[in-house]
Amino acid sequence: MIESIKSQLDNTLEKIDLKISDDHYSGKVRENFYLDDKIVMITSDRVSAFDHILGTIPFKGQILNEIACFWFNKTKDIVPNHFISSPDEQVLITKKAKTLPVEVIVRQYITGSLWREYKQGINGQYGFMLPENLKENQEFDKPILTPSTKAEYGLHDEPISREKIVNSLVDEKIYSKAEKYALQLFDAGQKWANKMGLILVDTKYEFGVYDDELIVIDEIHTPDSSRYWVKDEYIDRYNKGIGQKMLDKENIRKWLIEKGFQGEGIPPKLTDDIRILLSEKYMELYKKLLGEDFVPSVGNVQSRIERNLSKIELLK
Ligand SMILES: Nc1ncnc2c1ncn2[C@@H]1O[C@H](COP(=O)(O)OP(=O)(O)O)[C@@H](O)[C@H]1O
Ligand SMILES: [Mg+2]
Repeated sequence: MIESIKSQLDNTLEKIDLKISDDHYSGKVRENFYLDDKIVMITSDRVSAFDHILGTIPFKGQILNEIACFWFNKTKDIVPNHFISSPDEQVLITKKAKTLPVEVIVRQYITGSLWREYKQGINGQYGFMLPENLKENQEFDKPILTPSTKAEYGLHDEPISREKIVNSLVDEKIYSKAEKYALQLFDAGQKWANKMGLILVDTKYEFGVYDDELIVIDEIHTPDSSRYWVKDEYIDRYNKGIGQKMLDKENIRKWLIEKGFQGEGIPPKLTDDIRILLSEKYMELYKKLLGEDFVPSVGNVQSRIERNLSKIELLK
């Protein structure tokens, strides 16, 4: 596997140059081409952390997109979603929704940014108080919702309370439904992860309205939008006060923090060693979570996408 990762280092999808439509949005990770009521959503191999784009990781786009497809399919009977089809390993055709201006984050453990804030004495920013004296990576009795605003590129998403959301951003009925959907999806995600020897620690959902219906959009339960830990090791590591075995994006945040970067200034350049290591982590997660080997599509990603999209006559 390591050989295929090495051979892909110079073949990753960083930018895309395709004639699909003029209405185009380049996100941190994905490239959206808007059609009348659909989006051609291409998952690049870019990796972002602390809201910065850092570089590319071999096979990251394929892994993310395939995991998202797995979850959209698995949960479609619980919560309606935007998935229409996947004409390529890194492409989704989705319903074009009117997006809610908030991200709904569900957490079962105190870790990551929430822990970093809590440790500094920040509490109450979501409209309720977290208990005192929590320890890093401690489990909550039940999942909590810590929503945030959806910031433009270059700005950070900000914590927001439910009250503020329903008073100024989203109709209360719609937001309540989004909360219910988020908890239902999270429950399904936790149950499946648990069966596969993993913990779904926390995750982020985005919602939108399409044809007067609230649907979940973006990506669900991917390693970019979620934290996954190895279940068997949780208690022991927690009791010893050491970090959890992570199979998600926190690995890159950890590497950056070790290099002295926490979101401000210019991020360090990714070395090939860390690109390879992260690719392996993403593959390990794929295998554990889906219970099957990851089959990498080696070679030039842009030309493969071009071939697959021209087959379904999506190129101008
Ligand atoms: N079905 C959908 N309808 C409209 N917008 C969507 C849909 N699914 C995802 N999006 C938006 O597409 C973008 C995906 O690209 P991404 O790289 O995640 O961007 P960002 O840097 O904004 O997070 C996000 O802004 C997300 O909100
Ligand atoms: Mg995003």
